[in-house]
Amino acid sequence: MIEEIKLNEFDTKYFIKDIGYVVIRKLYEYLDITDVFINEDNRRQGYAYKILKYIIDNNPNYKIMLEVNEINTPAINLYKKLGFKKISERENYYKDKTALIMEYSKDVYILAIESSCDETSVSIVKNGTEDIATIINSQIDIHKNYGGVVPEIASRKHMENITIVLDECLKKANMKFEDMDAFACTYAPGLTGSLLVGLECAKTLSLIYNKPFIKVNHMLGHISANKINNTLKYPLISLIVSGGHTDLILMKDENNSKYLGSTLDDAIGECYDKVAKILGLEYPGGPNVEKLALNGKPSYKMPTILDDESYNFSFSGIKSHVNNLVHNEHQRGNEINKEDLCRSFQDAVTNHLVSKTKKALLDYNVKYLLIAGGVASNSHIREELSNMCKNINVEMHVPDKKYCTDNATMIGAAAYPLYLKKEFATLDTNAKSNENI
Ligand code: KG4
Ligand code: ZN
Repeated sequence: MIEEIKLNEFDTKYFIKDIGYVVIRKLYEYLDITDVFINEDNRRQGYAYKILKYIIDNNPNYKIMLEVNEINTPAINLYKKLGFKKISERENYYKDKTALIMEYSKDVYILAIESSCDETSVSIVKNGTEDIATIINSQIDIHKNYGGVVPEIASRKHMENITIVLDECLKKANMKFEDMDAFACTYAPGLTGSLLVGLECAKTLSLIYNKPFIKVNHMLGHISANKINNTLKYPLISLIVSGGHTDLILMKDENNSKYLGSTLDDAIGECYDKVAKILGLEYPGGPNVEKLALNGKPSYKMPTILDDESYNFSFSGIKSHVNNLVHNEHQRGNEINKEDLCRSFQDAVTNHLVSKTKKALLDYNVKYLLIAGGVASNSHIREELSNMCKNINVEMHVPDKKYCTDNATMIGAAAYPLYLKKEFATLDTNAKSNENI
């Protein structure tokens, strides 16, 4: 049984008789844990956890802080288990040892929805970095019969799938809607009819369960995929390579982004898809082109791509080149070596990405590169960008392949800082087919 006695105006002792105690000091809105003691014989039996948990549960309106010696690993692990996070350090606090300053903050669970194109996805994300459960229902098998996404079919399929995917996700996480702290959803950019399905669903959940609604930009979502199991370091440059975007963005901090350059025509993913179509490969073309390129030689000459001083990209020239090349060879009755052509094309667009990204990193003297978007799942592109970064001493981070293509985990990761800043959206939020970060 936990008892408490007031020691003086500021300090209170919580104790279990003959076992141990915790002393706290309350000043203004802060509650500082100043002493934790458990009898030698009673250690490692969960008593410290029990008393601290009691203090946390009974003081909901205080910011709870503590200092711990950096070498005291068992204590640090106990505090982490309770939900304390390191917020700063104080050097030489314990003679020559550093103190970690830790603050308790409640775990935040966000249920996120992504339905901007042809994937219906729901994810539950803890504290913006931990994927508790994610379900992705892809409509690729339907759309590939048409050679691309048919918007009307996409939105109808989202309507059929959304409640099923929601249910599956909750089941996988073994959680209920009531356990969520907020509901988040992609609202832009994307196909309006598709976006609306997820958006109306998230807003309805927010209304029913009386929890905040958070709107997330899809491209910010792609960048935030880099926050899953990872902490970002600013300033950074982000290279977005997806079906609709090819952008270089400089981010001085979380709230400060500047577009350095973008594609002047097609996006890189769109270009992969068109090259695949020219070669008679199935939609989505990117992974199929990559597969063929693996066994090809770069034997076809490709045009130089936008070799200028800007940070912009261009993919329409190379797309037309591939189209004309295939057309001319067919007319001459010559066979195309698809593997070689895929390899030649992939080498050319990769070099284009690498050279523009390298230029931006060097010109702005930035030491951290993030890659995001569906095309970032391409192994060759990941490898070449990574080699370039090593050569110029830049750290690169790229999400796990499953978080590169569209998914709701990245939306939950992007929603978390908005939750902490209380940047909630109203229930009249509408879908937008186009919007920059
Ligand atoms: O990010 P994403 O899933 O959706 C958009 O927001 O656009 O990206 C889809 C694009 C498609 O164009 C697809 O062909 C391309 O990413 N993609 C790839 C690969 N996997 C997906 N492109 C090249 N190589 C891949 N392995
Ligand atoms: Zn996307």
